[in-house]
Amino acid sequence: MNESVYHIPALLSQSINALDINPAGTYVDVTYGGGGHSRAILAQLTTGHLYAFDQDTDALDRATPDPRLTLIHGNFRYLRNFLRYEGVMPGQVEGLLGDLGVSFHHFDDTDRGFSFRWPEAPLDMRMNRGAGASARTLLETMSEDALADMLKLYGELPQARRMAARIVAARQSGSLATAGDLIAAVSPVINPRQEKKELAQVFQALRITVNDEMSALRQMLTQALDMLAPGGRLAIITYHSLEDRIVKNFMKTGNFEGHAEKDFYGRNLAKMKLLTAKPVTPDAEEIATNPRSRSAKLRVAEKI
Ligand SMILES: C[S@@+](CC[C@H](N)C(=O)[O-])C[C@H]1O[C@@H](n2cnc3c(N)ncnc32)[C@H](O)[C@@H]1O
Repeated sequence: MNESVYHIPALLSQSINALDINPAGTYVDVTYGGGGHSRAILAQLTTGHLYAFDQDTDALDRATPDPRLTLIHGNFRYLRNFLRYEGVMPGQVEGLLGDLGVSFHHFDDTDRGFSFRWPEAPLDMRMNRGAGASARTLLETMSEDALADMLKLYGELPQARRMAARIVAARQSGSLATAGDLIAAVSPVINPRQEKKELAQVFQALRITVNDEMSALRQMLTQALDMLAPGGRLAIITYHSLEDRIVKNFMKTGNFEGHAEKDFYGRNLAKMKLLTAKPVTPDAEEIATNPRSRSAKLRVAEKI
């Protein structure tokens, strides 16, 4: 393990200000991580309460106990059920924050396979090590077409088909156990002028698939709308164009395709008001001190 900083939160003040916190209100952080955003929410609560989710026990194990904080080890795709279990009913949440994807800890952990920087690591990539199939299992069982689609869609790699063929050849020779094996498989079709960028895209595509991130996001957003009180705020930080599109469409129209729904008289049926016409992004100073924040995009909406 190469542990320095667990995580540095992106767009911290912008996202917390966007929640317009009521000190006595009920709040949810669906991605606790290193707890940076959660601590900033807690700093504004008096009698209010914060429910914080993470599917990785590494994150929750480090949290400082606080009577105003309830930690939930679970996937945010089951948001409504977990909150109901804690006694929080639909319509009671005044603000929900999501800071999607993985933490620095995931990339910097030398044993979990999230980064091409640690070639010895087994290809796991599950945020919740107790559930689902590992990256290795997926690479060994997905069809060549499905591998190519994954690399194209989530990695935006133009040579996705050739990479998929290389992965299939590697697994046939029985050598796809570690991050280094994956790197060796795809390297011949990587553009040497942007080797790091493309390897990061390969690993990102696989991670998104292993953790079923797009589907979990859709499920969480639908339930978040149900759990929010009228006037409650939804603030979501994304790091990938596909997840940003899902969030943008949902906040604008209440569906993931972005089709405005109107009633018989042509009146807008949107259940949320988008408060950020354009996404909020880190300024040059934040990017300089925290380069990993550079792709962050914050969108905020208010339940009508
Ligand atoms: C970008 S980090 C959050 C960082 C956090 N905002 C902070 O200030 O330190 C994302 C965290 O969300 C968790 N996570 C990602 N997807 C999740 C899901 N579907 N359910 C629960 N936790 C999830 C990851 O394990 C990771 O710890």
